[in-house]
Amino acid sequence: QQADGLVIAVDGPAASGKGTLARRLAAHYGLPYLDTGLLYRMVARTMLDAGKALDDAQAATASAAGFDDAAIDESRLRGREIGEAASVVAAIPAVRRALIDRQRRFAAAGEGAVLDGRDIGTVICPEATVKLFVTATPEVRAARRHKELAGRGEAATLDGILADIRRRDARDSGRGDAPLKAAEDAVQLDTSALGVEEAFQAALAIVEDRRRG
Ligand code: DC
Repeated sequence: QQADGLVIAVDGPAASGKGTLARRLAAHYGLPYLDTGLLYRMVARTMLDAGKALDDAQAATASAAGFDDAAIDESRLRGREIGEAASVVAAIPAVRRALIDRQRRFAAAGEGAVLDGRDIGTVICPEATVKLFVTATPEVRAARRHKELAGRGEAATLDGILADIRRRDARDSGRGDAPLKAAEDAVQLDTSALGVEEAFQAALAIVEDRRRG
């Protein structure tokens, strides 16, 4: 597939399936992929490892400005606790500012890119070729996350995960700086009733439709 400067922004709430979709789109078009949630997770991990309080804005900002992309170790960033902590540090405006450049550089570095997160279509890549806003009901997202955590050997009740998801949605959508929301020109994709392959085919149809203009 010829990508020719195609930038795809994929936003949505926790466990909506946006990461799986974004990764598949990137593979399909042969584009580099950036999971921007990992950047916030990395800041959270650094804070927890250093024994810092998550609301220590100065330490969080220094960590956001300081880490090397090569230090990102996904296996240490995927747990339940880190997702929650990432959402807390992501509400600090100076942390977000410190991470903007590396995301924009990634998007502009090659012949296109796929980025997923919360504010890609609204803040990071407002000029993206295509913007997808991926949703699913909280219950469906909790069930997916439950399965994923069980696969990692992390025990958690479905109710506990649903409560996590609702709290994370409220924090990510309610913050003042770059809240989770669909860009005006984003196409919404509700994956509640879709399997992975169906969701991918639906996303592909949206991207192809936009590319044809
Ligand atoms: O996508 P994720 O679950 O890995 O993201 C973890 C947290 O990081 C999420 O709850 C909010 C924050 N985040 C953000 O504020 N902006 C992004 N572009 C990506 C993630």
